[in-house]
Amino acid sequence: MVMNAKGGCGKSTLATNIASYFANEGAIVALADYDPQRSSLDWLERRPENRPEIHAVAGFKGGLRRVPRNADYVIIDAPARSHGTELTNLVKHAETIVVPVLPSTIDMQATSRFLDELKAVGKVSRKQAKIAAVANRVRDNTLIFDDLDEYLTKARVPYVAALREAQNYVRAYTRGLGIFELPEYLAWPDWEEWEPLTAWLRSVRSQP
Ligand SMILES: Nc1ncnc2c1ncn2[C@@H]1O[C@H](COP(=O)(O)OP(=O)(O)OP(=O)(O)O)[C@@H](O)[C@H]1O
Ligand SMILES: [Mg+2]
Repeated sequence: MVMNAKGGCGKSTLATNIASYFANEGAIVALADYDPQRSSLDWLERRPENRPEIHAVAGFKGGLRRVPRNADYVIIDAPARSHGTELTNLVKHAETIVVPVLPSTIDMQATSRFLDELKAVGKVSRKQAKIAAVANRVRDNTLIFDDLDEYLTKARVPYVAALREAQNYVRAYTRGLGIFELPEYLAWPDWEEWEPLTAWLRSVRSQP
């Protein structure tokens, strides 16, 4: 599950890219959009037929009922502003939670509060769901990134990857692709940055 109460931090971008990553590994993947804004479902509608299939699930309407029984992975795009009971109910569906965070003071403060709330949810505090943070839209050599780096290290939440700000994400979304499906000469720097995140997702450390 990709989740952060803060809007616009890259939840749908990460969810669609994680889904396409596992689909290209040959796994049976469902992408469940719990956000009525439908960014993940819109992306799936743009997806070319010759690419590995990803099953669309409108989680915001019917929950996970339409997930194929043989799915290896269910990737969930959670809506912004999830708090309280809604947050607890969403977390019930999750084994692994990825929290994207932008290098901005407003985002770091909002994410701090969100991480506190998330860590207090029973399923997370009992370690039945694992969480990790991912820095997103990072521009090298900016002071605020140093703050984010320090903040995430201190947040006592594993900080597994830093993804740069890149047009590749916009380009890929527009074409219904993930960055792993863009040509290597364009996307290799992004592939390298994703390596620790995909390694963490595959590892037992990410599983409850
Ligand atoms: N690493 C990146 N580089 C460049 N653009 C990015 C990157 N990550 C996200 N974006 C862009 O930032 C915007 C917000 O991203 P996205 O829609 O994934 O966030 P979100 O958390 O799902 O937002 P919402 O809370 O509205 O659901 C989009 O225009 C997306 O293309
Ligand atoms: Mg979104």
